[in-house]
Amino acid sequence: MPFRTIIEPFQIHSVQAINFTTPEERRAALERSGYNPFMLHADEVIIDLLTDSGTGAMSAQQWARLMNGDESYAGSRSYYRFRDVIKDLTGFAEVIPTHQGRAAERILFSTVMSSGDVVPNNTHFDTTRANVEYTGAQALDLVIPEGREPAVEHPFKGNIDITALERTLDDAGADRVPFVMVTVTNNSGGGQPVSMANLRAVREVCDRHGVPFYLDACRFAENAWFIKQREDGFADRTPREIAKEMFSLADGCTFSAKKDGLANIGGFLALNDSEVAARCRNLLILTEGFPTYGGLAGRDLEAIAQGLDEVLDEHYLQYRVNSVWYLANKAMEAGIPIVRPPGGHAVYLDAKTLLPHIPAANYPAHALACELYLEGGVRGVEIGSVMFGKPQPDGSEIPASMELVRLAVPRRTYTQSHIDYVGEVIISVADRAASLRGYRIVEQAPWLRHFTAKFEPV
Ligand code: F0G
Repeated sequence: MPFRTIIEPFQIHSVQAINFTTPEERRAALERSGYNPFMLHADEVIIDLLTDSGTGAMSAQQWARLMNGDESYAGSRSYYRFRDVIKDLTGFAEVIPTHQGRAAERILFSTVMSSGDVVPNNTHFDTTRANVEYTGAQALDLVIPEGREPAVEHPFKGNIDITALERTLDDAGADRVPFVMVTVTNNSGGGQPVSMANLRAVREVCDRHGVPFYLDACRFAENAWFIKQREDGFADRTPREIAKEMFSLADGCTFSAKKDGLANIGGFLALNDSEVAARCRNLLILTEGFPTYGGLAGRDLEAIAQGLDEVLDEHYLQYRVNSVWYLANKAMEAGIPIVRPPGGHAVYLDAKTLLPHIPAANYPAHALACELYLEGGVRGVEIGSVMFGKPQPDGSEIPASMELVRLAVPRRTYTQSHIDYVGEVIISVADRAASLRGYRIVEQAPWLRHFTAKFEPV
């Protein structure tokens, strides 16, 4: 097309009203919520960038497919459609539906992992890390050094450090490493992509050590799009061809259909090892459901099968990545520090740089997330020492390596003017950054504390 403007590749067919709040109402809501944005009512939020997980808009085709859901307990037609779409895309022989990604993680991990094992990943997502640690194993983050430096530019900042991976396999011994995992895109590291060359290198290392290789494939389509844009030899390949090649390098994957499945709920575990799959199915029956529905309604299986097709459309992926970059550019033009280059599903504000006067022990990224809400009703999520800090026996904490606020953009949900508004809110808070104060935790759970912790301002 001769025009430069990239438009939303859809027209809006049904809308939901936004509830507007005043600054006073937001202050009262945040105080009532123990200063934890997770505890707000969604109606108290104006633009909700908490997550891109399950929060997107389904297409008319997906809604139509819901009506075709076969709700049979066993052997549902919808399961076979779901299975065939996933087999065709991933090439994996066994497809196990789950109610969302973390259920796939729990089932796989408790089947193949034991206490004392070591699991390397580029960066474990929070639920992935928690599910690894829950089995007594150790979750190791081995992203390349550039992936830990927000301001450093690198086309594939999600790559795993191959030398560190080799060293881990040598030191731990292959029998202590149940598998190597790579997260595409690397969510906790800024939504950064992983190159095909890096995935090939992981395959090679795993083959040499006889260790399986799994993808955490939540955002596989966005990763495929970055490979097409940035890696030599892929410009003329379709996102589907690239995605197929990514999956062909692995032995299996866990997947949350709430991201690149374009669905509001769902997930799956897919793998080639039929013996492991059989053991996983036994666990599935215990807690999720019969293997042809795995905790999902037949209509959900239909919506996911359709979503996995739509997500690889080039117009969709171009719009998707550009809409995130549009917000990132607003921040960068205003001189606000963010993880660079911007990732595929979210903009990550660098609170450590923006708020140097707030020490990690007082959670600078949490302070920034609270302030964005108070200022304009924009809800983001802290990805820093609240989420990943390690409490020590003496009451101190080892801080996370980065203090980020993630503003995740739900798929096909907000328009350009919504994002213009978010840009104004961020700039307004950044202009008075020096006046922000930190927080302390007054109540917390033993794991995944960020979801429910209560805070007070210091
Ligand atoms: N892996 C990654 C990389 C994720 O981003 C998520 C979820 C999961 C696994 C777990 O999937 O939520 O379906 O159980 N991420 C959401 C987020 C929650 O906000 O980034 P789930």
